[in-house]
Amino acid sequence: MSQFSGTLFDLAGHTALVTGGSRGIGRAISERLAQHGANVVICGRKADVAEEVASVINARDGGRAIGVAGNITRAEELENIVAQAQSAFGRVDILVANAGLHIHFGPSADMSDAVLEKTMDGNFRALHRLAQRLLPGMAEQGWGRIINIGSIAAHFGSGLYHSYTLSKSLAMQYIRNIAVEFGEAGVRANTVSPGLVRTDMARGLLEDEEELRKELARSTVGRPGEPDEIAGMVVALASAAGNYVNGQTLAVDGGQTIRYVA
Ligand SMILES: NC(=O)c1ccc[n+]([C@@H]2O[C@H](COP(=O)([O-])OP(=O)(O)OC[C@H]3O[C@@H](n4cnc5c(N)ncnc54)[C@H](OP(=O)(O)O)[C@@H]3O)[C@@H](O)[C@H]2O)c1
Repeated sequence: MSQFSGTLFDLAGHTALVTGGSRGIGRAISERLAQHGANVVICGRKADVAEEVASVINARDGGRAIGVAGNITRAEELENIVAQAQSAFGRVDILVANAGLHIHFGPSADMSDAVLEKTMDGNFRALHRLAQRLLPGMAEQGWGRIINIGSIAAHFGSGLYHSYTLSKSLAMQYIRNIAVEFGEAGVRANTVSPGLVRTDMARGLLEDEEELRKELARSTVGRPGEPDEIAGMVVALASAAGNYVNGQTLAVDGGQTIRYVA
């Protein structure tokens, strides 16, 4: 029995699939979901890294974990991830679509079809493909969670982050649609939009003093976030604590999006 048994944050008896669960924000999410009792399927392109995180989790109390290799931009690999998850744990009832692609910075004139398609595949279609596969089981048991990891970048217009914000915006709208379609069936679908978080993906920005100063100018806490500070919100949304939250986009950004700079 986990230390969270009987609390609002108890996830025992549930199974989560976390894309990009092997590093950064996804790793923190995987570890915290397991600590709260969920079994966790950790997916990343590199099997050894995903399996290593699973073994760290399996050495602790809490839910069990497996690592599965798969590229979220490829439909057939998503199918394989779901098949492996189901064969290890039966039904998957928490989907955390966390892995994301940010592969082009620059004006719209330079955004190629190939870049746009690949980014859409990773940031939107993977969410849809996995949700489409898992939602029938969630609806059948009357309980499920779809949690999309977005970005506050997609709450604004940007002259440089075109494909990234387009794909993340589509995913946010998709989440609202799923929330409407499946809310009465017991499924909750929400987006968590991180601000700047200390991970490999943000390393370029974190290591550039001038860029970091600009990025944090609107922060109300004056520092980047830590992966665990995103994981906490995901645990809340995944558990009974999040039962009445549906279709929302929650900015977990140190207050960056509420500040008016005069
Ligand atoms: N860090 C930030 O400041 C920040 C801010 C806003 C939003 N976000 C969002 O938060 C999410 C997580 O970002 P992060 O900063 O934690 O990234 P990260 O530290 O770079 O970790 C990326 C994770 O995703 C996996 N991954 C990458 N591409 C993949 C693919 N094509 N297929 C399957 N797995 C893949 C990686 O494993 P492999 O390399 O083994 O594939 C790794 O586990 C993303 O959606 C990102 O857009 C991040």
